[in-house]
Amino acid sequence: MKSTVYITRKLPDEIINKLSQYFHVRMWKEENIPVPREILLKEIENIEGLICLLTDKIDEEVIRKAKQLKIISNLAVGYNNIDVQAAAKKEIIVTNTPGVLTETTADLTFALLMAAARRLVNASDSVRNGEWGAWSLMQHTGQDIFGATLGIIGLGRIGEALVKRANGFDMNVLYYNRTRKLEKEQELGIHYSELKDLLQQSDYVCLMLPYSPDVHHLIGKEELSLMKQSAILINTARGGIVDEEALYEALRNGDIWAAGLDVFEQEPIPMDHPLLSLSNVVTLPHIGSASVKTRMRMAHLAADNVVKVLYGGDAPITPVYQCVKV
Ligand code: GLV
Repeated sequence: MKSTVYITRKLPDEIINKLSQYFHVRMWKEENIPVPREILLKEIENIEGLICLLTDKIDEEVIRKAKQLKIISNLAVGYNNIDVQAAAKKEIIVTNTPGVLTETTADLTFALLMAAARRLVNASDSVRNGEWGAWSLMQHTGQDIFGATLGIIGLGRIGEALVKRANGFDMNVLYYNRTRKLEKEQELGIHYSELKDLLQQSDYVCLMLPYSPDVHHLIGKEELSLMKQSAILINTARGGIVDEEALYEALRNGDIWAAGLDVFEQEPIPMDHPLLSLSNVVTLPHIGSASVKTRMRMAHLAADNVVKVLYGGDAPITPVYQCVKV
């Protein structure tokens, strides 16, 4: 008997064809609209496998409805959208897609840093809006990247990949992490710093840590007040790590110089959000891993985890939580 797998968003045919060899595949067929909650709550009842996105809240209520679910495969590296404890209680495996998106996300993080530092969006807009005018000495002047100090909060895979980019720009790299990584300090030529010191010394602060309730609003009014007035905050992790109200105030008052944000507390960000009124913020729609190759690699990995577990009866490739003994 074939198992049934539900996918919460339209995925490319290549992925559907792969899964269809092994399973009955059901899918929410919209590309730009998340699956409505009531449909998810209904679908979850009679499926063995779920492939979901970071925008799907797979909480206790959803998990409680599942009668035969064996695997929740998240098509993202972050899995704060899933109640892993609730899944564990029902012995449901949870997987994510680490590794395959590391370099692409580090690329985007550095691109966002450069865009915010050199005011690329404002400068580009000025050309299109006919505001170029005469060349003038201080027009569109930004901050130097080469030789500046980069503070990385959270030295995981993506943080480490970011260091390689920073090293190419001769940056002095500080990092703060729950556990100090002495061997990485040697290998990458970086320095450990307590959070307060990192905030005070860095020209760029990049948030590269996973979201959990422990780090909710890790960067708030007090932390922003420690940063240099010329400093730039970059967030490609999760919106909830930053107190957006405090960030808005800090940017508006010139307490920090600029921000580059790929993630927000609410996504999509509401159009009347105060951050969108500021010209010293570069905003992106959560595209850290968005290269064609990487998004396909992520989708394949999410599918392969399901095939391994449901068809092969094997251990998943990239478990977040694994309850079955193999
Ligand atoms: C993207 O934010 C991811 O977690 O993969």
